[in-house]
Amino acid sequence: LWLGLVLLLMTILLAACGSGQPADTDEQAGENNSETEAAEKQKLIVGTEAAFAPFEFLDKGEIVGFDIDLLAAVMEEAGFEHEVRNLGWDPLFVAVQNGEVDLAISGITITDDRLESYDFTRPYYESTHMILVPEGSDIKSATDLVGKKVGVQNGTTGQFAVEKILGENHPDILKYESSAVAIMALKNGDVEAVVTDNAVVNEYLKNNPNDNFVGLEDPENFESEFYGIMFPKGSELTEIFNEALTTVIENGTYAEIYEKWFGTTPDVETLLN
Ligand code: ARG
Repeated sequence: LWLGLVLLLMTILLAACGSGQPADTDEQAGENNSETEAAEKQKLIVGTEAAFAPFEFLDKGEIVGFDIDLLAAVMEEAGFEHEVRNLGWDPLFVAVQNGEVDLAISGITITDDRLESYDFTRPYYESTHMILVPEGSDIKSATDLVGKKVGVQNGTTGQFAVEKILGENHPDILKYESSAVAIMALKNGDVEAVVTDNAVVNEYLKNNPNDNFVGLEDPENFESEFYGIMFPKGSELTEIFNEALTTVIENGTYAEIYEKWFGTTPDVETLLN
């Protein structure tokens, strides 16, 4: 009996040690962290919705993008290991709330509504909306969307911006599960315009010149908004990541990542004020 108990205890101890080890990733291989330092790091699970280039998207099955690089820099600064999971947009919010993931990065706009249920870091990106239409469309501004079928990603600020113009629950607003699918609907002619985040429109135009789409800005109807990294309400990680993000913005790492993805210099002053 005693032998049995001792063996059982040893098994439990071994299992406990094993689960404490961070998984070996390829990314880690290139860095010269000492073995012990790597072993002490806690691993966090990050949720995203990877159909939102250039912020997060799949490249040969791998999740890449501006957010993903920024996340890695902030994780490194804060001293955590991490794993990114592609969950989908609506499930992402549920997963953060029920603790299935520790945090989320996904081009998520900090809104008053979301602040009631989630915590956010300081802003890391300033965004606004743009309208994507086929060349030759008679839609020239946001107010021209009245009477047109407009595609949006469900539950995004793009949807809310169109609702301001057409009205809530308007049947002409077609809600898709991702911005990429909404743009597919525009290609298919199911909708006459798509409203989504400006950088996503510009990235699409750059990568798909043969679609003959154009992007319309409308600063009079589309406000500026800011992305933040999202946590469950009351998470003690928020302040840690807020500080790490601030450091990454201040020490130039942010600008490097920004230039890699956007080809221009970021307005760091606006972010830090
Ligand atoms: N910024 C918008 C919002 O927060 C859209 C974000 C969509 N992000 C994504 N990964 N699909 O509502």
